[in-house]
Amino acid sequence: MNYKKISVSHISGAMGAEISGVDLSQRLDNKTFDEIHQALLEHLVIVFHDQTMNPDECKMFARKFGSLEPYPFVEGLSDHPEIFEIRKEPDEKRNFGGKWHSDMSFTNTPPMGTMLYALEVPSKGGDTMLTNLYLAYEALSDGMKKLLMGKNAEYSAALKHSGGRAAIMNSTRFDVANLDRAEEASLHPIVRTHPQTGRKALYISSGHLAKFENMTSEESKPLLDFLREHASQPDFTCRVQYRKGTLVLWDNRCTQHRALNDYHGERRVMHRLTIGSNERPQ
Ligand code: SIN
Repeated sequence: MNYKKISVSHISGAMGAEISGVDLSQRLDNKTFDEIHQALLEHLVIVFHDQTMNPDECKMFARKFGSLEPYPFVEGLSDHPEIFEIRKEPDEKRNFGGKWHSDMSFTNTPPMGTMLYALEVPSKGGDTMLTNLYLAYEALSDGMKKLLMGKNAEYSAALKHSGGRAAIMNSTRFDVANLDRAEEASLHPIVRTHPQTGRKALYISSGHLAKFENMTSEESKPLLDFLREHASQPDFTCRVQYRKGTLVLWDNRCTQHRALNDYHGERRVMHRLTIGSNERPQ
């Protein structure tokens, strides 16, 4: 893609781009937004540094991609319920989102995207790692692709190894919400086709993947463990580094991510907005 309104530079060989030349607090003209959208589809995660945005401006930008969806297990900000704060204090050891996952894959219509806006960052560390699930699919053998094609898996919010919910439950910083939804689970194809790019992705959401449809957890485990390991190998990943005012947007339909927890003793504060989708993964 030949970008005219924005500058785009790669973060890694696998995925991710930094975008400059745009102030996201301003209303974007259609051409600029189209290029940003195109960059998201092409690079899967896009990063804008040095943005100065209030919650209304974050919402205005996020809504250009779709309607906002509250995260089910944490209360949003009182004035902006669509936004919730991911905060780790210097005295906390656990972090939120510290295990590989694709956001809310346990719902029937998982969100298309997630946006983080960095309010306070540690002096070092606190990066987000992401992995490219198109590459994960494409690197499989033809035999494995055939085996997985048409198979559904169960994605659950309730898994013990899902660091996200466990971290919320054990944290005093979050106002936990909707515990009645804590056992929520959904069936989705393990190989999904992106509705806009038409590319196939391995839909690995490591912390939420429970088992294959019509199989037991024990029967599913060896293959799921292989796929989890395969999907997160370093060659498929990139690492997003934050400074105050960094805004990141990733596409949950072809990536999974994890928040690194390597900054104990320092504070990290992000505003998270989740961009919904009305589509079931296909
Ligand atoms: C998340 O999983 O939404 C959190 C990611 C992060 O804080 O880096």
